[in-house]
Amino acid sequence: MIGYFIMYEKILVPIDGSDYSFRALCEAINLAKLTGGTITLIHVTPTGSSVVMSSKQHFYAMLQQEGKQVLSNRMKLAEEEGVKTETLLVEGDPVEQIVKTAKQGNFSLIVMGARGLSKLAGLVVGSTSQGVIKNAPCPVLVTR
Ligand SMILES: Nc1ncnc2c1ncn2[C@@H]1O[C@H](COP(=O)(O)OP(=O)(O)OP(=O)(O)O)[C@@H](O)[C@H]1O
Ligand SMILES: [Mg+2]
Repeated sequence: MIGYFIMYEKILVPIDGSDYSFRALCEAINLAKLTGGTITLIHVTPTGSSVVMSSKQHFYAMLQQEGKQVLSNRMKLAEEEGVKTETLLVEGDPVEQIVKTAKQGNFSLIVMGARGLSKLAGLVVGSTSQGVIKNAPCPVLVTR
């Protein structure tokens, strides 16, 4: 790609396996094609206190496995579209980890879904999007 039109060079796409984040990825792929940018997919396995203690380890391993699966799946899609893509599987608080990654990796844009996997009706944006919009070091494109 020609050097003088590199905009949104590094795009961070948080993935939770929802249709919303799938549509965010499609948008990010279109943008990356236009700008010659690269995509980094990030999934955060949440380490909340809500997990039942007795089955904690097993449950956590299962969540992590699902995250890994969805990342490799989505990466395949982006690469088939000719976009250079990498994946990050991290754990912790999703908002914190996404914001921290955007800062440390010098990302120029975050593309994410308005909503995610939660079935709570009535929210315009979910808590992950809200937290990222509030704390991100770069522009955030929210898709529906
Ligand atoms: N664990 C996660 N790891 C990476 N990205 C995530 C994660 N959870 C959500 N996202 C991103 O945030 C977007 C919005 O999801 P969010 O969690 O804010 O909404 P929700 O699940 O509908 O509501 P809530 O989680 O607040 O009950 C998703 O489309 C996805 O891009
Ligand atoms: Mg959610």
